[in-house]
Amino acid sequence: MNCVERLVDIFGSQAEVARRFSLDRAVVNNWVKSGYVPARWAMEVEQVTGGDVTAADVLNEATERKPIRLKSRPDGENLYIPTVGSDTMINEYAPSKRISSFHPPQRTLLGPGPTEIHPRVLTTMSQPAIGYLDPVFVDMMEELKSLLRYVYQTKNPLTFPISGPGSVGMEFCFVNMVAPGDKVIVCRNGVFGGRMIENVERCGATAIVVEDKWGEPVDPQKLEDAMKANPDARLVAFVHAETSTGVLSDAKTLVEIAHKHDALTIVDAVTSLGGCEVRVDDWKFDAVYSASQKCLSCTPGLSPVSISERVVDFVKGRKDKIHSWFMDMNLLLGYWGASTRTYHHTAPTNSLFGLHEALLLIREEGLENCWARHKRHHIALKAGLEAMNLKFLVDPKYQVPEMNAVHCAAGVNEAEVRKRLLNEFGIEIGAGLGPLAGKIWRFGLMGYSCRPDNVMLCLSALGSVLEDMGYPVHVGDAESAAHAAYASMHTTEAAAKKRKTAKAA
Ligand SMILES: Cc1ncc(COP(=O)(O)O)c(C=O)c1O
Repeated sequence: MNCVERLVDIFGSQAEVARRFSLDRAVVNNWVKSGYVPARWAMEVEQVTGGDVTAADVLNEATERKPIRLKSRPDGENLYIPTVGSDTMINEYAPSKRISSFHPPQRTLLGPGPTEIHPRVLTTMSQPAIGYLDPVFVDMMEELKSLLRYVYQTKNPLTFPISGPGSVGMEFCFVNMVAPGDKVIVCRNGVFGGRMIENVERCGATAIVVEDKWGEPVDPQKLEDAMKANPDARLVAFVHAETSTGVLSDAKTLVEIAHKHDALTIVDAVTSLGGCEVRVDDWKFDAVYSASQKCLSCTPGLSPVSISERVVDFVKGRKDKIHSWFMDMNLLLGYWGASTRTYHHTAPTNSLFGLHEALLLIREEGLENCWARHKRHHIALKAGLEAMNLKFLVDPKYQVPEMNAVHCAAGVNEAEVRKRLLNEFGIEIGAGLGPLAGKIWRFGLMGYSCRPDNVMLCLSALGSVLEDMGYPVHVGDAESAAHAAYASMHTTEAAAKKRKTAKAA
């Protein structure tokens, strides 16, 4: 007897089988005529018959009568039928929704990060995996560290990428440098200073907060005052380029003040690294972290850090146990340090190939040229945005070239503008955070996204959307202003080049 005959035998008639399975009688009649129950009913048959007819019986029979065809795209057939004889059977935990391969749409990423990934980085990441202790990989790690030292402008031997996003780099610095009971001065002028306070408190220390308005740089005088009032504070932390507002603080001066009072420093260079001047040695940073997905044009998930010898000695000398095993600098040194290469955790090898390529791209472009590119396109974008009467949040003296925050256009729904940019033009820009939510738009020009075609596309898309939504702009004005800015920069640069050549001759 085949399975369908057994069902009719158990339930007495085709009509009763149809009733038990909530089916039309014609369907059951079809099963009888074809001589098998379709595979997708296997689990239900087993349940309804209490196991008298098993799912395996149904599957084996159905597969024999109607072999499974594998298709690249599902078209109504269940692709998750287990193979004949497999004891896995249909898995009750398998997703009920049919799932096919993921193909993200093409977007122009002009928000606060992630940025577009350079095609050379993507290609490199798709190379075959190799072991994280493979001698070839180990050689690549040394090159990667030397490229990172170049981008950070440092000779710190301990300069390497932590496996994890920028937040892990942040936590790495705090967990190694802050002990319970410590006093830490944290400068807060946006979202990420707030996260530093969280880190200090979670390390069991006390945060003394130097507060500045969102959109304004950290005030060096306030830091000086806080240090005088708290001579026992042994650490100062601040964000160099605050992504939530696009403001740049004077890192060199802040570090000088901290050192004058014998405190170490933790500097957040997540948005600044690669986009504007960061000089770890000249500015005497003690510990600095960044992230791979912003001006480095790489995939998210790596956090390059650079740690001075002074901090390495300090951490090595700590008597208490570091509160995180994964981020314990002494243990990580075993894998990333100068001499040894022992297993600590499985390094994300292909992402590291990608970072190597991303840093190599900056080396080929020249770091100073890379900073200049971010500045040039910032000036053009700014000219265009201001031609649309959009006002920058930050005073021009402190604007971060790669992170442009403007007050939203009055009288239009700001979220609708972002939605239309995404849906109609594939452009992603950033919204305001915290107290600036609904009040500002953030235009990132970072890494590979920082290109003239993106500047022009962004201005022309924004102009069309705003005009369509009734905001008084004249489509084309923004592009003209940006073109004029490019032309003026070109003229100035050409004149400077001419003068240089004449002088050399
Ligand atoms: C200044 C700053 N610090 C820290 C972070 C956290 O980095 P991640 O999101 O990679 O964890 C960000 C992220 O945007 C940032 O902009």
